[in-house]
Amino acid sequence: MKYQILTAALLAAFSASVMANEKAIQSGSELAQVKGCIGCHGMDGIGIGPTFPNLAGQHSSYLVEQLRHYRSGYRPNAIMAGQATNLTDAEIFDLASYYASKPAP
Ligand code: HEC
Repeated sequence: MKYQILTAALLAAFSASVMANEKAIQSGSELAQVKGCIGCHGMDGIGIGPTFPNLAGQHSSYLVEQLRHYRSGYRPNAIMAGQATNLTDAEIFDLASYYASKPAP
């Protein structure tokens, strides 16, 4: 009995986190288009050329960290600074969730 309750609680927690992530991925997919990320990183997270890094399959925590560093100027880059300046923390999380969900090349 105890184990059944524990299993049910774990399953509920797990599906709630999966659903939350699905929401972030969906929102990130829209943001990638609206914000223009796809112009350089592609819809599938594969850069359009050798100087545009692939984002597909990268750890989402890594992508979040990099976007925050571009936004703050800690990681200086003329192109990405302009892209990240106006992103909110929530938008960064969603964009990172989206690109991390794409299969690595
Ligand atoms: C005009 C082209 C362009 C656009 C648009 C663009 N990027 Fe980038 N992005 C780059 C380039 C070039 C780099 C490599 C910069 C560097 O050397 O630090 C980069 C780097 C990154 C990185 C770091 C990758 C790594 O491996 O460290 C992330 C994350 C990223 N971009 C996300 C985004 C997101 C999200 C958007 C949309 C809000 C976006 N980019 C829009 C060109 C672009």
